[in-house]
Amino acid sequence: MLLITGAAGFIGGNFVHHWFESSSEPVVVLDKLTYAGNAATIAAFLKPGHCELVQGDIGDRALVARLLNEHAPRALLHFAAESHVDRSIHGPGEFVQTNLVGTFGLLEEVRAYWTELSGEKRDSFRLLHVSTDEVYGSLSDTDPAFTETTPYSPNSPYSATKAGSDHLVRAYHHTYGIPTLTTNCSNNYGPYHFPEKLIPLMILNALDGKPLPVYGDGKNIRDWLYVRDHCEAIRQVLERGRPGETYNVGGKNEIRNIDVVTTICRKLDALRPRATGKYEDLITYVTDRPGHDRRYAIDPSKIEREIGWQPTETFASGIEKTVRWYLENDEWIAGVRSGAYRQWIQTQYGHESRGPGV
Ligand code: NAD
Ligand code: TYD
Repeated sequence: MLLITGAAGFIGGNFVHHWFESSSEPVVVLDKLTYAGNAATIAAFLKPGHCELVQGDIGDRALVARLLNEHAPRALLHFAAESHVDRSIHGPGEFVQTNLVGTFGLLEEVRAYWTELSGEKRDSFRLLHVSTDEVYGSLSDTDPAFTETTPYSPNSPYSATKAGSDHLVRAYHHTYGIPTLTTNCSNNYGPYHFPEKLIPLMILNALDGKPLPVYGDGKNIRDWLYVRDHCEAIRQVLERGRPGETYNVGGKNEIRNIDVVTTICRKLDALRPRATGKYEDLITYVTDRPGHDRRYAIDPSKIEREIGWQPTETFASGIEKTVRWYLENDEWIAGVRSGAYRQWIQTQYGHESRGPGV
């Protein structure tokens, strides 16, 4: 079986969906269910012995030890993290705690568990650490894309704590021999994405007739990958990745933020036109994010060459699916528009209530 951390969140949740499309191997999810964790995302799969959700902190070492010893997983997939850059600017403490200290605790407990394994079980065990391209820092418009050998240069508390966790994972492989795999992926989008991130925020604000807040000049570039393609990359790296290696994952879809937003607006104009005017009329330029990275771009040559992975969605096909998903899943959306999320919107965007559902 697989032990998966953070699978009530966006990518981990999509991974569970993807996993059960082609496998019946059981899964145990360890998730703290923070504001970003939503049990509803994986509710359809929850059944004892098939997919179990344990609410808990990756930093709770006794709990992690118990889950490892009780379930004896063949792999641990580590998605759990604090993941939103803007939140890390307002409150870096949680990021240090979960991304860095939490990952350290997890590694220590994996080390204790793995050391006791023998033979085939020990050789075939994998710890797959899910990370981000943001650890490499910011590119200029003419710099080459990030490769696995690009020096780390994180600029936000989020990326710094992810970089630290990547280094710890690397060290646990080199020092203790734990068979680790690390993936560094570009920006994901797709179903079950929490509406604090650019794409779901824009879709839901537009539908609510609220301003679409574009930071700075809107010309920052991200390299967008449909989440299902990322999940497939993780599945393939788990099966075929070489222990101790890192793999960059990206879709060669570099797009300026303003172009992402106008694409969403035009999609919505076609699928659910406004009573008057166009969705683009809602675009509002707002104060830039402090230290805002200009451009991210992934060179996926290594994973293509060594693993044979290729993305299946273009940005055009992926954004179409994503917009349609948000138009068709009112219940899930209503579920996330509550509690801590409201407070966060207040802190981030002040009293103008630019966030969805507030
Ligand atoms: P997310 O914020 O949607 O989900 C994170 C999940 O982790 C939530 O379910 C949350 O409840 C859980 N969690 C947080 N702290 C925890 C703790 N201390 N113990 C247990 N569970 C905890 O994040 P995501 O977008 O799904 O990202 C998943 C992973 O992928 C992260 O490690 C992130 O750094 C990485 N990543 C994300 C992107 C992206 O575009 N979203 C791109 C590349 C890499
Ligand atoms: P985000 O989804 O937060 O991902 P990341 O910062 O990890 O890349 O943001 C994607 C891009 O969109 C980033 O350049 C910041 C920008 N952005 C806005 O312009 N407005 C917004 O309201 C948000 C949330 C992001």
